[in-house]
Amino acid sequence: MALASLKEGETVLDLGSGAGLDCFLAAQKVGSTGNVIGVDMTPEMVKRARRSAEDGGYTNVKFKLGFIEDLPVAGNSIDAVISNCVINLSPDKKKVFQEVFRVLKPGGRMMISDIVLTRELPRAIKESVEGYHACVSGAMVSDEYLRCIETAGFQAIKVIDQTPFPFDLLINDPTAMAIFEEAKIAPTEAEEIAGTIVSLKVQAYKRN
Ligand SMILES: C[S@@+](CC[C@H](N)C(=O)[O-])C[C@H]1O[C@@H](n2cnc3c(N)ncnc32)[C@H](O)[C@@H]1O
Repeated sequence: MALASLKEGETVLDLGSGAGLDCFLAAQKVGSTGNVIGVDMTPEMVKRARRSAEDGGYTNVKFKLGFIEDLPVAGNSIDAVISNCVINLSPDKKKVFQEVFRVLKPGGRMMISDIVLTRELPRAIKESVEGYHACVSGAMVSDEYLRCIETAGFQAIKVIDQTPFPFDLLINDPTAMAIFEEAKIAPTEAEEIAGTIVSLKVQAYKRN
């Protein structure tokens, strides 16, 4: 969805760019007159993404080391902010959305996909390190998440898609099952909890 909307010549920012795959796909969409910036806090990921950019001949993509709560990017300079499965990991989501609002040009848009919750997780899962790495423990309840976006100043906030995490996938994932075991949660309760974990796609605009 986010990638499909990108146009030739646009400047795109990917929050938590990891190995850089989404940046490379975005780079193809914006072409040689556009630019893509990936920001990630992990030096190893930035190094790996830069190497891939060099190998793939992507001259319109830059990777910067930094935090999404304090973006190393000038204000009013970005047409579109994209991000996949990263903001849930931030301990300060409010600050992330304020930063996204700051760097967007007036009229710019944010199109993100993330993990949110329909209700709070049991404490044992919230405090699980494994759960954090699985992008679950840091996730916020969706109403609060959308409120953070609104409070940052965004308008025309639209939930494009909201899909519960498939329990079949979870039950076959040893990491996920280890989280439930560690938290001493029985499989029946695990299924109910899994139903509260949602993949959310949302778009929002910084008005002109
Ligand atoms: C689950 S991976 C997702 C990577 C990529 N977006 C993808 O879809 O493949 C999360 C990435 O976000 C980065 N990350 C997590 N918290 C961050 C933060 N506060 N600031 C910057 N990067 C962060 C991690 O280093 C990691 O590369």
